[in-house]
Amino acid sequence: MVCSLPSPPPLSSSSQVDHADPSHTALHAFNALWDAHFAADCLLVYSTGRSHALYEQLRREVPALRPPCALVCSVGTEIFFEASDAEPVPDAAWCAALDVGGWDRGKVEAAAAGAAPELTLQPPSEQRPHKVSFHCALPRDAASGVLARLTTALEGAGLATTVIYSGGADVDVLPAGASKGKGLSFLLSQIADAVGPPTDGVLVCGDSGNDVELFEVDGVRGVVVANAHEELRAWAQGHAGERVFEAGERCSAGIAQALRHFGLV
Ligand code: GLC
Repeated sequence: MVCSLPSPPPLSSSSQVDHADPSHTALHAFNALWDAHFAADCLLVYSTGRSHALYEQLRREVPALRPPCALVCSVGTEIFFEASDAEPVPDAAWCAALDVGGWDRGKVEAAAAGAAPELTLQPPSEQRPHKVSFHCALPRDAASGVLARLTTALEGAGLATTVIYSGGADVDVLPAGASKGKGLSFLLSQIADAVGPPTDGVLVCGDSGNDVELFEVDGVRGVVVANAHEELRAWAQGHAGERVFEAGERCSAGIAQALRHFGLV
């Protein structure tokens, strides 16, 4: 999740929704905080690993999830600027930027099948034009060996890719120029062109490995929520400092805690 402060912080829907809290008390409290302090002059952006189809499913399940100003889906590979009931169309300029460098889904699948047969393809909805996604059912230690083999095979096939391990179970292969962080940088340049750069900075919020690159975008501050997975936690421990806050609270409550921590409310 990304909120752009007056102007903006960016905030990810996965970090916001607490499935352990069916009444979404903390999400409602976050909404009230957002309305009171940010809604007038900040941009709320969701950046999720989910496809647009799975995001829509989540939105139906959790009506309290407020509509974002921009939606970044499929681990930064698809950016949607307008909410619409029609078939959603991702930003064409960003899609075109990801085609540079010879991205080839078919070759990625072939390299993975040969070098890492332990990986199984995720459902069709999560296979996207610029994202090939697998499940990895192995423990983390064993998974790291599989990821190393996969990376070597992709390089050997001449493919410039980024391999991202999230939640101890998911492996995404993206074009080298793609990630949630790269998607955010693109979005921030679009925002700067349209209304100028954020005057009060950008806050990013995350809970898994696919969020690491969000935190690495120049100049952003970030919150790692208490329910974050081990791979993001490990990254945060190596990057402790005034720009990264490890919240004691889960999901939306952790984001609200960060807004206070950074003196934004
Ligand atoms: C979401 C996506 C899945 C991806 C994972 C980690 O769960 O649906 O395809 O692998 O995020 O990025």
